[in-house]
Amino acid sequence: MTRPTDAVVVGGGIVGLATAWRLQARGLSVTVCDREPGTGATHAAAGMLAPVAEARWGDERLLPLALESLRVWPDFAADLRDASGLDLDLHADGILIAGRDADDRRILEDLLVLHARHDLAAAALSARDARSLEPALSPALRGGVLARSDMAVDPRRVVRALLASLDTAGVRVVRAHVASVTRTGGVARGVVLEDGTRLDSGAVVLAAGIATPSVGGLPEGAVPPVRPVKGQILRLRGEPLLTRPVQGFVHGSPVYLVPRTDGELVIGATQEEMGVDSRVTARAVYELLRDAIALVPDVGELELCETTVGFRPGTPDNLPYIGPTEIEGLTVATGHHRNGILLAPVTAAIVVAVLTGERMPPELLPYSPTWPVRRAPVVVPT
Ligand code: GLY
Repeated sequence: MTRPTDAVVVGGGIVGLATAWRLQARGLSVTVCDREPGTGATHAAAGMLAPVAEARWGDERLLPLALESLRVWPDFAADLRDASGLDLDLHADGILIAGRDADDRRILEDLLVLHARHDLAAAALSARDARSLEPALSPALRGGVLARSDMAVDPRRVVRALLASLDTAGVRVVRAHVASVTRTGGVARGVVLEDGTRLDSGAVVLAAGIATPSVGGLPEGAVPPVRPVKGQILRLRGEPLLTRPVQGFVHGSPVYLVPRTDGELVIGATQEEMGVDSRVTARAVYELLRDAIALVPDVGELELCETTVGFRPGTPDNLPYIGPTEIEGLTVATGHHRNGILLAPVTAAIVVAVLTGERMPPELLPYSPTWPVRRAPVVVPT
């Protein structure tokens, strides 16, 4: 057995690593457990920080959380850059939403109504204005919207920076799978690793994405339900074509293109409800490239370097679960679905507040699994 820490964080994706980093900065001793940190959904993600470009009718309840996380991202990135000495490739020139045909332009008009209703930073663009911002866009484009405050970051760089910062700060990263949570008198007091090693702690934070509900040692319903939402995503390389991300609609289908400073272009993503199926399919690659080329014709000249599958952790109401559970000492931070990269800083802040007993801003309380309308029944074994 090793020396107890204040908190064990289960899961080394961007959410778990950011949470561990922020807990450590508040003076807590922290251990992170993950067999391969940063290789799950974070590795696949394009890194759009896009509460506006990704806003959709029906998902408005996410907006307060998403906007708060966008607000704190620049400071989070600056702190991380200072702590690690690594650049995160943060782009802060907005995201251009593009409509390819007349029906797609109507989708944009509909979204502009949503943006206006919530006072979001979005401005309608003519096709000509869109092309003057991004000359590689197709002349056939029918209209655009500039989501001025949206940003993008390279999630793989963020993971490298978080791991470097944790290392510098002396946070232990245990490269092993967590089999179960241990409880003493019903209170979560650590974890058991796959090889039987026991790690004792004052608190446990479950931030393991789609694997969160399969961590053992807990009564049914203690951890809220999470399902895998498959995303296939492509990475291309060549002459830079875009200066900012483009979130487009082509004959009604969404597609996004996220440029990196080093010439990489990320094109995503499918959204498939088919469990943990890690196959890259010909249809997905074909459709993503077809729609990306319809928006930016020169994409056809780039080298296709990588195809990746990731699994977004989806929840029944598509909102994340961040906060305490019915089990004392057990906090969850999962279910971030399409927004894990965007929501990492605010998630870390919420978990810090929970573990240090700070008061939470009331507008962030509804994301807790113990918020009345979201509470799942816990079956306590007799
Ligand atoms: N946020 C983009 C995606 O999940 O595909």
